[in-house]
Amino acid sequence: MKKIGILTGGADCPGLNSVIRSVVRKAMQEGYVITGIKNGWSGLIENDTRILDLRMTSGILDKGGTILGTSRAKPHEDPKQVKQVIENYKRSGIDALIVVGGEETLKVARYFDQKGLMKIVGVPKSIDNALFGTDYAFGFDTAVNIATECIDRLHTTAESHHRIIVIEVMGQHTGWIALEAGIAGGADIILVPEIPINLKKVCCDIKARHRRGKNFTIMVVSEGAKIEGEESKDALKSISERRRGNIGDLLAKTIEGQTGYETRVSVLGHIQRGGTPTAYDRLIGTQFGVFAVQLVKENRFGQMVSLFDNKLRSVSIEEAVKKRKTIDMDLYNMAKVFFAGE
Ligand code: F6P
Repeated sequence: MKKIGILTGGADCPGLNSVIRSVVRKAMQEGYVITGIKNGWSGLIENDTRILDLRMTSGILDKGGTILGTSRAKPHEDPKQVKQVIENYKRSGIDALIVVGGEETLKVARYFDQKGLMKIVGVPKSIDNALFGTDYAFGFDTAVNIATECIDRLHTTAESHHRIIVIEVMGQHTGWIALEAGIAGGADIILVPEIPINLKKVCCDIKARHRRGKNFTIMVVSEGAKIEGEESKDALKSISERRRGNIGDLLAKTIEGQTGYETRVSVLGHIQRGGTPTAYDRLIGTQFGVFAVQLVKENRFGQMVSLFDNKLRSVSIEEAVKKRKTIDMDLYNMAKVFFAGE
């Protein structure tokens, strides 16, 4: 085994460069040559690769995004692209591939691994923290910290103007960012995709809070949260439609209409994914990278690096992508202690 490839796929995320740097450093120490594949799986469709060295990967630990670029390409859905990927994989002389990505990127990895077409080790990234096979996917801590800082800033303006501010955070399927940033930012209401929104109760809770003399409210909502009774209708909407920040707008309009309190909405969007990773994400990214090379060295393919009870482990990629990791309901129930209606 002489050459390891690495690609970063799916949404970008703070900490990706920490992993790339760490993989290159460890792999070179072990005598491997490292090939960087550009723009996720697209790089193997288009044969866009380059050899990585220490010079190219030094000074990137603290940089957001990914020096390799990324894409949401899913070549396993198109037989023509599968052929191109395999041809280019062979042509580049890669013996094993480290795939850094979330659920969708790792599903592509599962395909090539299960067909016996590639030797793959996965590394979990997800600002949403929704990957099932690991307690933690890097990028999440940075997203929570950014969202918390935004909530703090919106708190002071909500209080000064006696307004309700609806803060929409990322999380199409799971409410991890809303829950953790909401608790850390002292949100009065947290709404997540796992629990359909009871609009009547939300409005009652806000009114009750006002009656207690609190004439402002901070509400944090995941972009994928749905109104009770509207879940199936919403499921029919295209992803692009659902990404337009409409749950925040919908809530703000409805709440203002039903309570009479002035309401504003703030959609945090891609701010949550950009810029410098936190110390924790650099630390985890660095550990994940070294461990991924170790798994390659031990021929433990079809595995994804995972963090379990604060220890590095590996799980099969199959296990990691079989379902989503939804929020910790104990944590959600604890958060209710601080909710407006309690
Ligand atoms: O999967 C990560 C994520 O940031 C989600 O939280 C969000 O819904 C989505 O990506 C946004 O994707 P895009 O960058 O393509 O708009």
